Amino acid sequence: MELTGKERELKPSEIISTRSDTRGVITYVNSAFTAVSGYSREEALGKPHIIIRHPDMPRAVYFLMWQALKSGEEFFGVTKNRCKNGDHYWACGSFQPDKENGELIGYRSTRQGLIGVGKNALKREFDRLYREVREVELAQPRPQQIEAGLEALTRLLKKRGHAGYEDYARRAL
Ligand SMILES: Cc1cc2nc3c(=O)[nH]c(=O)nc-3n(C[C@H](O)[C@H](O)[C@H](O)COP(=O)(O)O)c2cc1C
Repeated sequence: MELTGKERELKPSEIISTRSDTRGVITYVNSAFTAVSGYSREEALGKPHIIIRHPDMPRAVYFLMWQALKSGEEFFGVTKNRCKNGDHYWACGSFQPDKENGELIGYRSTRQGLIGVGKNALKREFDRLYREVREVELAQPRPQQIEAGLEALTRLLKKRGHAGYEDYARRAL
């Protein structure tokens, strides 16, 4: 799938909400998701979330997300996603375990665009960080990518004066 390098900027009213089963297979998308990603409900339901994976995103970030979700915790992240037509969009928000009567039935995410005067600088900053981490990952064979990515992410955040990923990502809110 070709990338256009063009950004689809989210409007403040576009709050993207998706739900998945326990494996990450999409079970629900709202109309902001279909408007922004370009995938219809029919196309998205039953597919894994990786259909909107952007190749610049480090695997380490999704590893941290799954680690939190599997421990029953919420995760806050900034994501660069791919639209069906090859454009991309930036979003930030939370991923949460979805429970019914105390039992895990899947996960959900609610994300919005990056807003405020500093949004373009922030996107550039995240783009640079993610590309640097991704480069480290891709220099490794697949089984070693996450460990190498996590090490690079921790090192680069420390250099920028941040203790951890979520602390850093929350600045996008
Ligand atoms: C509720 C929920 C929302 C998700 N949203 C995205 C998303 O927007 N983009 C994405 O690439 N992965 C998303 N994922 C993670 C994917 O399931 C997958 O772990 C990720 O794309 C990692 O790909 P990798 O294994 O190639 O690193 C989501 C998972 C869950 C449970």
